[in-house]
Amino acid sequence: MFRTFARAAGAPPRRLFVGSRGGGMRIVGARFLSQLQEPKEPHMATSEVPGPESQAALQRLSQLQDTRAVIFTADYNKSVGNYIADADGNMMLDMYCQIASIPVGYNSEGILRAAKSDQMAVALANRPALGVFPPADWAQLLEESFMRVKPPGMDMVFTATHGSDANEIAYKAAFMHYALKKRGGRAFSQAEMTTVMDNAPPGSPDVAILSFSLGFHGRTFGALSTTRSKAVHKLDIPAFTWPRAPFPQLQYPLDKHVKENAEEERKCLAEVARILKTNAVPVAAVIVEPIQSEGGDRHASAEFFRGLRRITEENDVLLIVDEVQTGCGATGTFWAHEQWGLATPPDMVTFSKKMQAAGFYHTRKLVPDQPYRNFNTWMGDPARAIVARAIVDEVLEKRLVEQVREVGAYLVSHLEPLGVRYHRIVRNVRGQGTFVAFDCPSTELRTELLDLMRREGVNMGGSGDVTVRFRPMLTLTKAHVNVFLARFQSVLNKMYQKHWP
Ligand SMILES: Cc1ncc(COP(=O)(O)O)c(C=O)c1O
Repeated sequence: MFRTFARAAGAPPRRLFVGSRGGGMRIVGARFLSQLQEPKEPHMATSEVPGPESQAALQRLSQLQDTRAVIFTADYNKSVGNYIADADGNMMLDMYCQIASIPVGYNSEGILRAAKSDQMAVALANRPALGVFPPADWAQLLEESFMRVKPPGMDMVFTATHGSDANEIAYKAAFMHYALKKRGGRAFSQAEMTTVMDNAPPGSPDVAILSFSLGFHGRTFGALSTTRSKAVHKLDIPAFTWPRAPFPQLQYPLDKHVKENAEEERKCLAEVARILKTNAVPVAAVIVEPIQSEGGDRHASAEFFRGLRRITEENDVLLIVDEVQTGCGATGTFWAHEQWGLATPPDMVTFSKKMQAAGFYHTRKLVPDQPYRNFNTWMGDPARAIVARAIVDEVLEKRLVEQVREVGAYLVSHLEPLGVRYHRIVRNVRGQGTFVAFDCPSTELRTELLDLMRREGVNMGGSGDVTVRFRPMLTLTKAHVNVFLARFQSVLNKMYQKHWP
């Protein structure tokens, strides 16, 4: 939080950063952040994470919010580059990165520069309703940020607030497009106009989005109906009766199970085709993640996705690629679906997380027939687009996607032998770029592993029931991987000594 403090006689006004630590307030000079230096390795001040300061902060926070999911409280004044600082002064190598959403490092120079610019101050002080009063330079900002990295074949971008929001709005675009085709250009009927106010057909038609088992597409109402990863996310919430297709359950390593995996993918595609043809409720769009992320880092081949595209085209159904977690370089191409070699691009590509801004790319055919139909007050945020521009600049200038490819290959090449040596804990090593994962034999062993890794100074996360996922920043280097590997091996040794002495 920035505050302007009363100035001493004759002195210029000072803008200071005000942070809090434990119960008290701490004041940090504004220049401080840009002087932070990334450490060479983790530094642990406490033997437990969360330590006492984190626990005290949590205790206070728990009076106001549900803190049961909190892992530790962080100190973002001190976090730098690939390292996250916690309230106890621990500096941990961060390979989880705010659930896969930090692209270029904590307190990155480029983002701080953008944050301190006049353009950002004006954007923050005057948040516009972008659908009605966009700033005169909004097109330029879109061109310099999102459109600079637009996926092949996309020429428009709809900006939103977060990943679920992006998906939800993409679904609305799909439904409007479907209804427009069906109406064949005629005006809304009187029956449509009246029944829609009762949430009844034909005004509120029964139309579906098809998603895949163990897919995750967010937690808002429409998005949640397509989320199929964990029951706990969905319980007690009314849902649309939309269909679900099986996502291939591949065997790893992929190159050693080509035949079985191809057969599994063929069966899943046949099921998609069957659902699209026979589902009681017509399907307007299929949504798919390039790598199922929350569901446990489940991969499918480029052939599978090409087949999926072909089937959606044959059935005149839209394809939405959810790149909320895979997008912005993490898989070794800016968008993961660029690796599929599609003959026709998807109809929509949704994004959020590492872009630090959300929305979806689309083509002009998905613009609704009337204004105000896919609409809300803010429709995104110029402040977030300014940050996204700084991210895109840095990713392109520093060739970070190329770096991800190289460092990801290095990481996997060192993990694979560990998967042989420590096979009781590390299984099914897989990944694209630094979007890497392995499975543990049980949820309990995974929890123990993640906990021990944090104590050693490496913050990591899980996905699915038993998977450990790597979601580092794009700025991860081989030196960071070496820091990780040394600690990982020490933790694996400790676990082996404990469980298999
Ligand atoms: C693939 C995917 N889609 C959508 C979402 C939802 O994004 P958000 O949590 O920003 O609403 C997520 C979040 O993890 C995701 O991984």
